[in-house]
Amino acid sequence: MLDLTPDRASLDAIEIASRDEISALQLQRMKWSLKHAYDNVPFYKASFDAADIHPDDLKSLQDLAKFPFTNKQDLRDNYPFGMFAVPREKLARIHASSGTTGKPTVVGYTASDVDMWASVVARSLRASGTRPGDLVHVAYGYGLFTGGLGAHYGAEKLGCTVVPVSGGMTARQVTLISDFKPTTIMVTPSYALSILDACREQGIDPRETSLQVGIFGAEPWTNAMREEIEQAFDMHAVDIYGLSEIIGPGVANECVETKDGPTIWEDHFYPEIINPETGEPVADGEMGELVFTSLTKEAFPIIRYRTRDLSRLLPGTARSMRRMEKITGRSDDMIILRGVNVFPTQVEEQLMKVASLAPHFQIELKNAGRMDAMVIHVEAGSGMDEPGKKHAAAELAKRVKDVIGVTAEINVRDEGAVARSEGKAVRVIDNREKG
Ligand code: DLL
Repeated sequence: MLDLTPDRASLDAIEIASRDEISALQLQRMKWSLKHAYDNVPFYKASFDAADIHPDDLKSLQDLAKFPFTNKQDLRDNYPFGMFAVPREKLARIHASSGTTGKPTVVGYTASDVDMWASVVARSLRASGTRPGDLVHVAYGYGLFTGGLGAHYGAEKLGCTVVPVSGGMTARQVTLISDFKPTTIMVTPSYALSILDACREQGIDPRETSLQVGIFGAEPWTNAMREEIEQAFDMHAVDIYGLSEIIGPGVANECVETKDGPTIWEDHFYPEIINPETGEPVADGEMGELVFTSLTKEAFPIIRYRTRDLSRLLPGTARSMRRMEKITGRSDDMIILRGVNVFPTQVEEQLMKVASLAPHFQIELKNAGRMDAMVIHVEAGSGMDEPGKKHAAAELAKRVKDVIGVTAEINVRDEGAVARSEGKAVRVIDNREKG
């Protein structure tokens, strides 16, 4: 793979500033953001008042811990526009995340928020090894989802040529890749695997395509999956993280030269890790729930938002800003099976070690008498016979038992039998009877 480390001179000065400079900027911006939220969003005024805290009480970054959290329910309670700090007429854009139950979560951006967002995504692309003038194939969904348009504006801002393909029509994705010759693809890792299959179906060697960089996010994926994708396409695979409530994609992004967890663009998004049970902040390096505070957003300031994503904060490497460890999973996605906590990423990691199986999988939960049972649906690699399937199933079952500590039934299905993703993969199907 090519060395795509960006020229240091091309980075934003703050990316490589001293920690003192970064902290000073954060403190100044945090004071503004807290006051802006308090003065303009009735929800924040009520929530700060109830906690007997005022924006003027913030004297240091540590004081942020005295402020109350914001969670998804608070956003739902203020649906659709109650969390905005500017009149609706000042919004340039609205996005929403689908949400599995009830109303979607609505977020808004002023023109200057859209511009800031484009800048952090442009920075993310540059960190990934994309350069001005590159052709960027965007296969994240366009629409209310922040993936497509977020990626699009960032790529334009960096000076790239953008192909706004969006998700779906997988065969056409391959045609466009082979005809337009993009160097960068932005897509969910699970949909990248669907595109990979389609390449092979069309007789195109994925290693021979023009792609040099894949910027993958919007769902958890493991380092084992990174290796699989890098090998298959002969390109760099880097992790982009973000969520609508904070801005969309581009809250954090891995640097291609290190690939050691996304660097958080801390000049705009202030991270904390908390113990999800007690709500207490934990020290850098310790695992817990990621919490973010926006430092510069106008339309939708967000203070101490509980993401439910599990990670830990790590010191900067390629940049002075801190990194987050690649997300293991969301507390919402955690399966508790007979007392053992299981994340779909743990299953992915073990699956990737069984070379004869394809990387597509789904986990089904069902009742087995009075207990819960887990079935892992996986796919046979091409040309696998029945004894081969049996052997692969036994190998995966053993790995899952030995490493994760649960007994799972493994169902090795024919090629193409496990549902393909066109965006965020659905990893868990819960068929347990409720009640
Ligand atoms: O998924 C924004 C995005 C689009 C990020 C494209 C990256 C690329 P939401 O739909 O609001 O926004 O979903 C946010 O997705 O809280 C995580 O649980 C998960 N997620 C996003 N990026 C990653 C990642 C977009 N790199 C939720 N690794 C977040 C693991 C991720 N999980």
